[in-house]
Amino acid sequence: MRFYQTSWLLALCIGTIINASDILEVDLVFPRNETYSPTEWFPIVFAFQNAERARYLNPEITYTFWDLDNANNSRTRIHDLRWTNWIGQDTFYAYHYYGYFKEEGRWRVRWSLSWQSCDEDAFESHPLSADMINNSSTWSTWFTLQSSAPKVDLVAATAKKTCPEEYGMAINVTDKTMEVPMWVTWSGGDYTNDTCAVVASSTPTPTPDPCRVHIDKTIVASMEASLKSDLCKGIDRPSDCPEDKNNAAHQLAVAGISCLLAAVGALGFFLV
Ligand SMILES: *[C@@H]1O[C@H](CO)[C@@H](O)[C@H](O)[C@H]1NC(C)=O
Ligand SMILES: *[C@@H]1O[C@H](CO)[C@@H](O)[C@H](O)[C@H]1NC(C)=O
Ligand SMILES: *[C@@H]1O[C@H](CO)[C@@H](O)[C@H](O)[C@H]1NC(C)=O
Ligand SMILES: *[C@@H]1O[C@H](CO)[C@@H](O)[C@H](O)[C@H]1NC(C)=O
Ligand SMILES: *[C@@H]1O[C@H](CO)[C@@H](O)[C@H](O)[C@H]1NC(C)=O
Ligand SMILES: *[C@@H]1O[C@H](CO)[C@@H](O)[C@H](O)[C@H]1NC(C)=O
Repeated sequence: MRFYQTSWLLALCIGTIINASDILEVDLVFPRNETYSPTEWFPIVFAFQNAERARYLNPEITYTFWDLDNANNSRTRIHDLRWTNWIGQDTFYAYHYYGYFKEEGRWRVRWSLSWQSCDEDAFESHPLSADMINNSSTWSTWFTLQSSAPKVDLVAATAKKTCPEEYGMAINVTDKTMEVPMWVTWSGGDYTNDTCAVVASSTPTPTPDPCRVHIDKTIVASMEASLKSDLCKGIDRPSDCPEDKNNAAHQLAVAGISCLLAAVGALGFFLV
């Protein structure tokens, strides 16, 4: 008897997990509010969990990092995700390696996620005056670079069992999509065939769980391969670049994202 009850409970739990698949979650995976040792190439990694749900939302991540000891030393980057192939992606990583973190210091990171969704009621009942629903959300964190601290290790950093919710944003994206009325201006429309998704106004809002993202060695290897392939295309080529121009680093499962450098005057630091 007990056994059957347990099975039922299990079945219920599985049911909840499946329902949760309408939830898109976007997390800052690395860095967190911790201390790391300075490194030549320091990653900043965002994860889209259940990434396929991002397909019609035109998401964009903008972030700025500041040197807390020199406010002039700051950079702003944008992850331009418009050309991302979201289909079939379970977890999608938007990441970039930076060469600014070679010395000890304290840094602040502030990031914003913006997205747009259909205004279901307006599109249906008064489309002429309808508009997209714009949303965005901003968070920030700090991190410290200190020579005595552990080395940057994405696998260890994401193996933790607890991590604060404020590193993530969960969006309940329904199955319903709509055609954006022709006269509504929406930059995302060019990439979605003018299709938007309806976001549920669910209360309470779903709770993000950034701890579900676990970066494994394979993912790190492909991120590093993508970094290396970028470096090998640059001016200061590392000595161990492959001669073969058709190297496969670009075809790896984890796609690196091209970022736009928004900070003026930072070109000297930019890895080409
Ligand atoms: C960051 O960590 C420090 C020390 O663990 C803590 O005092 C501080 O409140 C944390 N800040 C945030 C934003 O989590
Ligand atoms: C920051 O920039 C301002 C204006 O350009 C300058 O006056 C100031 O000295 C700079 N501060 C540092 C710490 O470099
Ligand atoms: C959403 O943002 C777009 C572009 O910034 C703007 O044209 C539109 O009016 C905004 N919609 C609302 C409802 O604020
Ligand atoms: C998104 O924007 C709508 C309309 O401005 C607002 O009602 C809603 O609370 C926002 N949702 C989130 C998650 O910020
Ligand atoms: C774009 O949407 C229109 C209208 O919904 C549809 O007729 C057309 O087939 C779609 N095109 C693509 C490439 O999906
Ligand atoms: C997402 O929204 C749908 C439709 O409003 C609702 O049935 C479902 O319970 C929501 N899911 C979560 C996890 O809030």
